[in-house]
Amino acid sequence: MSIEPDSGRDPDLNARLDALEASQRAEAPRPRALFERETRRVRIPPGGELPESAALLERFYGGGFTVREKKPMVVDTRRSSGPYMVSVDARPLTLLDACSQIATQTHGFYHPGIVKALYTGRFEHCLWSNPDTTVHHVPELAAYEEALERLAPPALDHVSFVCAGGAEANEKALRIARLHAPPPVNGPRRRVLAFRDGFHGRTLATLAATWNPEKRAPFEFAGYEAVFSRAELGEVERLLDARGHEIYAIVVEPMQAEGGDVYLRREFLLGLCKLARARKLPLVVDEVQTGFATGGPFFWWTRLGLGGDEATAPDILTCAKKACLGVVLSRWPDPESNQVHVASALRGLIQLETSRDQANLEHLLRPRAEALAEAFPGLVSDVRLAGTALAFDLPDNAAQTAFIDQRYQRGLMTYPAGERTIRFRFSAGWDERVLDDLFKRIHESLARLSDKTAKDWVPEGQSADSDPAVIVRPIEERDWPQIMVIENASYEPARRDSEAYLRRAAATGLGLCAVDTATGAILGFCFGGPLEGFRGVSGASQDERLGLGDTFFSADVTVAEAARARGVGRLLKRAQVQWAKVHGFSYISGRNRVGATDAMAALNRSYGAFPVVRLTHQYEGNALADYYRIPLVPPPAPRTPPDEGILDLASGLQQPFGPAPAFMAGHELVGPTASKINLSNYATVDTVHYTEHLRLLAPRGTSHMYFTSSRDETVDKALRCLRLSRPQGQLAVGLEGGYLGHVTAAARSLSDPAGFGDDLALFEFPRLPHPEADAAGFEAGLKDLVEKQGADKILGLFVEVVGERSGRVLAGEPARLLAAACRAHDIPLVLVETASGCYRGGAGAWGVDALPADVVPDMVLWYPGAQIGHIFVGDRYFIKKPLVLISTWDGDELSAIRAHEHLRAARRLDLSESIAALDDLLQRDVLPACPGARLGGVGLYRTITFPSVELAEAVDQACLHRGLYLGNGLPDTLVFAPPLTISPATITGDLRRRVLAAIDEARSPA
Ligand SMILES: Cc1ncc(COP(=O)(O)O)c(C=O)c1O
Repeated sequence: MSIEPDSGRDPDLNARLDALEASQRAEAPRPRALFERETRRVRIPPGGELPESAALLERFYGGGFTVREKKPMVVDTRRSSGPYMVSVDARPLTLLDACSQIATQTHGFYHPGIVKALYTGRFEHCLWSNPDTTVHHVPELAAYEEALERLAPPALDHVSFVCAGGAEANEKALRIARLHAPPPVNGPRRRVLAFRDGFHGRTLATLAATWNPEKRAPFEFAGYEAVFSRAELGEVERLLDARGHEIYAIVVEPMQAEGGDVYLRREFLLGLCKLARARKLPLVVDEVQTGFATGGPFFWWTRLGLGGDEATAPDILTCAKKACLGVVLSRWPDPESNQVHVASALRGLIQLETSRDQANLEHLLRPRAEALAEAFPGLVSDVRLAGTALAFDLPDNAAQTAFIDQRYQRGLMTYPAGERTIRFRFSAGWDERVLDDLFKRIHESLARLSDKTAKDWVPEGQSADSDPAVIVRPIEERDWPQIMVIENASYEPARRDSEAYLRRAAATGLGLCAVDTATGAILGFCFGGPLEGFRGVSGASQDERLGLGDTFFSADVTVAEAARARGVGRLLKRAQVQWAKVHGFSYISGRNRVGATDAMAALNRSYGAFPVVRLTHQYEGNALADYYRIPLVPPPAPRTPPDEGILDLASGLQQPFGPAPAFMAGHELVGPTASKINLSNYATVDTVHYTEHLRLLAPRGTSHMYFTSSRDETVDKALRCLRLSRPQGQLAVGLEGGYLGHVTAAARSLSDPAGFGDDLALFEFPRLPHPEADAAGFEAGLKDLVEKQGADKILGLFVEVVGERSGRVLAGEPARLLAAACRAHDIPLVLVETASGCYRGGAGAWGVDALPADVVPDMVLWYPGAQIGHIFVGDRYFIKKPLVLISTWDGDELSAIRAHEHLRAARRLDLSESIAALDDLLQRDVLPACPGARLGGVGLYRTITFPSVELAEAVDQACLHRGLYLGNGLPDTLVFAPPLTISPATITGDLRRRVLAAIDEARSPA
């Protein structure tokens, strides 16, 4: 079946979308389903076959829509746990993720702290919908900022967050640094000093500072190339003497991770710091991969004993990965505020709060790493270990490849770095048992580097989880003597429960035993009942859910010594969980003695247990116990906020369905939130579903798509994509008033700088008049540019269908003229749908649907909010080579789920009445009240451009006083971007009243 992607020309599109949604909903993980997570073992299916993963991936790649670059396992973020990464297959591939999703996880999958936060309501304001952080005060962000400030080296008083990750954090760092570089001498400063083997990201300015010539060279712009030095002070000094006047910042990783875990010496870094300071050149320390206690202490810089005082603190320090978004700590403030994904910020904050849990890793790893070096003296060299980061070198690149090539067969995931380094990143999710298992696998991998059969599949972990001869049934009177024998044999006196206690539990709740059907012997039992029946028990007595009647207390689960390893505990726990669920309980809680019940704790974790509190002085002594909770229901729905009379017309793009769209309750969100996965490497069921939907919806002219993690990264990746087909390309062209983002250098250089801080652009990208305002000026400007530069120097013309800050609209004749000019000069036309996409324009899914048929873009960029972006591209410029256009995340599963639900729900809305009401209000009431004002935008994205900046600001303030939030466009422009669900009555009533009163106040003399 071939899918015709142009919604404008496909009369069956609605029917297809309906059918697709129905089949996807039937397949989607359900919010109330019980998931059994893997907490015990690696599994390798026969022949390595992953039929369900393979089928899903074919759907993901369908018709060549996306690049064939994902790893062969589709990851189940619901069943993965700790270090165990589980595929969606009926017979799953379960690997030990020994790189913790490229150093992004502090606790592996299903972070217990994040799960706890989900169930205690910490995600209440940011799970179902992403607040616009440039509009609202977001307490989660403020708390994160405070926590980072406490940890930051002195003088780094300013914290800012950016959306995507490491590359974007470094872009922002470079933006701030350039503002504080020494004044120009003989022309602007456009280069950074960076180091061989360094890696700073794949956006344009960070890629220029990345050493690997294979990655960097195809994307450099003349005049902006970095100056590279070896990590040697003499060389740095010579380069600064010769070229210091061209340089605006020095950027360095204290440990060069991608370059092969190269530990730079303390003396060198200290000397670099002094050199930078002496020349007043900002020093950016890139801790994207090393921050958040990866190397032991929270920052690698402080691990080296640096940053304890102002003199040895860098000027700017960046983190990402475990931070779950981009973090910039700086001496200087960020001149702009940024939109970020708040749920990711909260995940990052929780990873920060729990980062110390990783502290034990180095101690556990050291003897195992040493044993490795001893066992393979000719093979393994230069073992490096700090905190959770372990690396060793192999003799050459061939050996490195031979190690990496057998990772699936050996049941582990890790990555090469540099030429011959193998590196690992551990997390608090690892304990001694799992480490022993992993090191056995590493030993085997090393022993088989030249073994031709090393890639043969040997099934593992395929035996059933429990012995089929064992059944679970309710306890009967005759069972009690055997039960008490097992109880007394299993526990020291202080932990034994009395028969009376257990009988009471069985009477008020549930008592089950596991029986060997062959012998009739009792192998184990479990007891429990409503929490309220255990008021005297430590843990239960303090439980905040006591009295709510929604919790089942698991009083005792015991397996006879002789019956261990037959899956008896699992059978009992499964039966208990199912019983509690069927009987309407929302949670199960219980106690696990720390150290004595590892198997039972792992079993509880496999049902989703998270620790509530660590209890001390347990069992009549000094023992510790973890009081845990197993949720049987989804996290609580957001409470309706108190009606403060706010009318929010500023957050519509981040929250197209307002702060708490009820349809989100139908989606399982715990897995995608608690297990932030790298979508650049892995697909999930939810991302496959979303991609299938996008494929049906791909805008006119496009038939392929790339994901990105933010608005700005969309621009950088689009430029890199175009550059591969236009190797002479040196510039991108924007329009006056245009907005593409303000974080990365490329986006900044395309955006109109009005209203931002100084020196917004780095690259000298030209901006032409908007054809809506001056078609002739646009045409002449483009012609002139082509004559001066040559069309092949131009990577593309970037045009918003609706200007997010300007309200300028591309439509009708001017649109045709613009498209024709691009065709005539053979310049790629890149349309931006951020303000017009997701049905907001009113004429279909995309603004481009309303344009004349001969306006056909080569690329369409769309940022739907939170931590995901899209580049739709036509055949001509699609680069299908794997892994060329990736970054750490390439989006975020939770953001993808939301954006998908938005598209599904928006398609079913009829916006015509609210669009008409808004148009009517603005045309008939607002414009006449503001002589000289101009109305812009379309559909439910409208703007008013006032005759002066002062009037715009006064109206904005007067609106704020009335609880009416309008969006900020260009300095003279205010934006009306309501949720798509705004009612016509609200527009003609409440909105009208407030906005007219505000204009009246703003226009009347003080
Ligand atoms: C040191 C360093 N800087 C920057 C980056 C880029 O981060 P991201 O992929 O999140 O953009 C990385 C990623 O590996 C990194 O290791």
